Amino acid sequence: MSFLSHPVSVTFSMIRLHSTQEVHHQVPLHEAIFLVPTMGALHVGHEALIIKAKERAKERTEQFGGQSKVVVSIFVNPIQFDRAADLEDYPQPLEEDLKKCKALGVDYVFTPDSKEFYASDRSIKVSENALSALLCGATRPGHFDGVCTVISKLLNVFRPVGAIFGEKDYQQLAIIRRLARDLNFRTEVIGLPTVREPSGLALSSRNLRLNEETREQAPAIRTAMLAAYEKFSSGTTSADRLLAIIRMYLEKNAPLSTIDYLECVCAESLQAIREVDKPAVIAIASFFGDVRLIDNIQLHPSSI
Ligand code: PAF
Repeated sequence: MSFLSHPVSVTFSMIRLHSTQEVHHQVPLHEAIFLVPTMGALHVGHEALIIKAKERAKERTEQFGGQSKVVVSIFVNPIQFDRAADLEDYPQPLEEDLKKCKALGVDYVFTPDSKEFYASDRSIKVSENALSALLCGATRPGHFDGVCTVISKLLNVFRPVGAIFGEKDYQQLAIIRRLARDLNFRTEVIGLPTVREPSGLALSSRNLRLNEETREQAPAIRTAMLAAYEKFSSGTTSADRLLAIIRMYLEKNAPLSTIDYLECVCAESLQAIREVDKPAVIAIASFFGDVRLIDNIQLHPSSI
């Protein structure tokens, strides 16, 4: 899949901001900002987030006048990694990322240095204490504290009108919504549906690490989820039965996968549920070799 399938303006100039100080000097306070926080290694999923940000910026200018701008932050946030090796291995193709942002018409790219962004004697972190312990949080202690802390900092640095996140990381999005609500950030948290390969596999930088065999089997996650969704649509509301469909499908069609978790949870509290009688999400994390993939599907009882 190509990164850029949209026409681009070549007359466009993008400003790179290396520090919070540069943000303060170069981003006028009157600009309405739409922020796309990323850790770089930009793929077509990020492209969709950036395009959404651009659309929202344009709409805002049409509606209220003034200047609306798109900021992409590219920062491999060290404090959200629970394993040092993952941080070291994280791809950082910065030059390519900058080119992609420029081609998409991003106004500002924020690439802070970790030492500048986090004071060496920093003593404050932001923790969310309900949703963060579940699903991915159960096996990644401290991960969502790292996410909440960096997102709080980015929202403070830019005071964006809107910040855009993908629904693939459903739990992350739910936690960030809660963060914005509970700490009264004046930022609309905008979720965007997962972008998928034609096979159904959710786009992720991790897909690059799949080998030939696991790559072939990984799309089974989506097919299994859709099989459960179909059962749900025809009236099955028992979470156990829906999850059994997914488990069985993966056992048969993706023998190289090892499920880390597979749960049917309330869409808001992320607590496991037995019956889908309110908006719910089936969330999965599964290993294919040492590559851990996540995905989810939303279930709305009103659509039965
Ligand atoms: O989803 C990500 O890439 C990161 O967790 C985020 C939201 C940019 C925070 O570092």
